[in-house]
Amino acid sequence: MKSLSNKRILLGITGGIAAYKCAELARLFVKAGAEVSVVMTRAAQEFVTPLTLQALSGRRVYLDLLDAEAEGAMGHIELARWADLVLIAPATADFIAKLAHGQADDLLSTVVLACSAPIAVAPAMNQAMWADLGTQANLSLITERKISVFGPGIGDQACGDVGPGRMLEPEQLLHSCADLFETGSLAGLKIVINGGPTREAIDPVRFISNHSSGKMAYALANEAVAEGARVTLISGPVSLPVPERLQSVDVESAEEMLQACLLACTDCDVFIGVAAIADYRPDEVAAEKIKKLSDQVQISLVKNPDVISEIASQENRPFMVGFAAETTAIAEHGRQKLVKKKLDLLFANNAVETFNSDSIAVTAIQANSQQDLGPGNKSAVARQMLRLIADQLSKNNPAEE
Ligand code: PMT
Repeated sequence: MKSLSNKRILLGITGGIAAYKCAELARLFVKAGAEVSVVMTRAAQEFVTPLTLQALSGRRVYLDLLDAEAEGAMGHIELARWADLVLIAPATADFIAKLAHGQADDLLSTVVLACSAPIAVAPAMNQAMWADLGTQANLSLITERKISVFGPGIGDQACGDVGPGRMLEPEQLLHSCADLFETGSLAGLKIVINGGPTREAIDPVRFISNHSSGKMAYALANEAVAEGARVTLISGPVSLPVPERLQSVDVESAEEMLQACLLACTDCDVFIGVAAIADYRPDEVAAEKIKKLSDQVQISLVKNPDVISEIASQENRPFMVGFAAETTAIAEHGRQKLVKKKLDLLFANNAVETFNSDSIAVTAIQANSQQDLGPGNKSAVARQMLRLIADQLSKNNPAEE
């Protein structure tokens, strides 16, 4: 099956007996890594409760067009913009007629009209209603407009009739929806990325840090999400907006970075260490702001844990990718770090040119090979880096291709 990882699915439920199956459908979407927002018509609420759908989707359920509270948070236009796909299941004959004629008299029909993402319907109705010429004419109109029609199935109906009109089963709808998307090269993988600087406290108002902006790590995180990975981004203090569709964790110090990374890496496939983690921290943190009393102050530093080495030394470790920020003999020093830290792949770059810059050039170093990537903007080079990682993973696990 193609992947629904990171996809945003707006599930529109209209008033048919098959509405109860949408509880299972919402659960399957979430299990497949999709985000699900549910919009229910008034009639749908007679068959299944919004609370059930809220519990299974993990998100609030949208019911009314003229709901001041909903419009303040996610109104019909935001919902339409949010969705990567709208699936209307079950789609009644009445709702299909509404779609065919571009009516917008409730929340769901209004969202559909405002939405530029793909739209699909899963019809469910009595076999005679399905065969009716009006319904068939409406179906022709919506298929002309590139709305996908999944089903219906043929068989026993709730009303006692036998024939076409049953809504497809949730598993079948899940597959049909997935088939509408391209599958990314990292679909189904969990990737943990750390980025940004750390801050090592000297006293309550001062710290030791560096110039890392987080741009490289955030670019990698965004591109990995676009390739279908489930991403956890563990970030030191930066001033970038948190990317969407991933789990983000904020940390300050190297010790916090270590704990957050160890926790996130318990079940991950790939770890990418981009963070510029301070190698040393003050031995003691002054409880009060240090006063300007003498001409010289000595700060004694102790070594911080090496986060990437700790993860690399674990049993069942993920595929380990590191960076090396160097100022001289960049590839040579990078290769030494690859070996010393027991990494699978390392991107060595020029620290002076790369910190806080929008562009980057790296040497990608592996045990038996080396190649240059870039120069280019960090998003473009991130795509090249991820391609290399995906290629390497498929070489390591040829059976899983
Ligand atoms: O954030 P930007 O402004 O976009 O800049 C990007 C970058 C320059 C920070 C990035 O390209 C980069 O080179 N990151 C690695 C920075 C670094 O600390 O390099 P290093 O050579 O000191 O460390 C080697 C590896 O060990 C790195 O993967 C680093 O994350 C890791 N490390 C280092 C120290 C430490 N205590 N724990 C670690 O895990």
